[in-house]
Amino acid sequence: MQPRPRKAGAAFLIKGNRAGRSEYFPTMPNTSKILLPLDFPSADAALAMAAQTHNDVAGFKIGLELVNAAGFDIFARLQDQVGPETRIFYDCKFHDIPNTVAGAVRAASRRNVWMLNVHAVGGGEMMRAACRAAGEGADAAHAACPLVVAVTVLTSTHAHALQTEMGVSQPLDQYVVHLARLAQDSGCDGVVASPLETASIRAACGPDFLIVTPGVRPLGADAGDQKRIMTPGEAVRAGADYLVVGRPITSAPDPGEAARAINRDAGNLA
Ligand code: C5P
Repeated sequence: MQPRPRKAGAAFLIKGNRAGRSEYFPTMPNTSKILLPLDFPSADAALAMAAQTHNDVAGFKIGLELVNAAGFDIFARLQDQVGPETRIFYDCKFHDIPNTVAGAVRAASRRNVWMLNVHAVGGGEMMRAACRAAGEGADAAHAACPLVVAVTVLTSTHAHALQTEMGVSQPLDQYVVHLARLAQDSGCDGVVASPLETASIRAACGPDFLIVTPGVRPLGADAGDQKRIMTPGEAVRAGADYLVVGRPITSAPDPGEAARAINRDAGNLA
């Protein structure tokens, strides 16, 4: 597989270990680490939020709620509105047999998405198939190859539920690191994990492995259904590359200002 050509415009070095995927992807014009989830029931609501926040975030996450409500046109509509180089993290969390996941990833990779994800518990064969398919889909569309990251354990899952409901006897933090190593060995560019496990993953997988952390809450914010959380500054200090922060921004009276406050906290590394 040939490396993808760089696109015109500002380039931003991104981490990852998958041979053949794009080393550079155009960036939004700021240094934010926020990937803002557009968890809305309509395209209009999502696009209105994007209009208020696009200068203060690194990219947007399109997940299950929005894509099911608004359809796949939302990818192109968002890039038409904000700009063709807008980073889109397609949070599809694929988990199926390798052939089915490969087909889905191949199709998704034609949509000019910057990052997409699978569940690490789908196993090594499934993740390898997903990584190969991302390159194939992007090649077919002459698009940049999306980063493939693997969800370890959802940040809404308690250690107790992992053991009693899902039957995982390993301690949660060790299990997350085990899944992160499996994702790395399978060719994924990184993982989605709680900020509480970020330092252990960084130590196990090295500096070039991407870590995307949901479960981030500014001091005093409502945790909602998130169980394993940290503040933006703590998550970055632990080694997170990107922060998925939703409701503290989207429910704020001024979402742009809420995002800027998180950027200030995330950038305060002293
Ligand atoms: O509003 P909040 O900040 O809790 O949003 C978190 C977002 O991150 C949601 O879109 C959720 O689907 C997503 N997510 C998560 N935990 C993961 C993976 C994704 O909360 N492990």
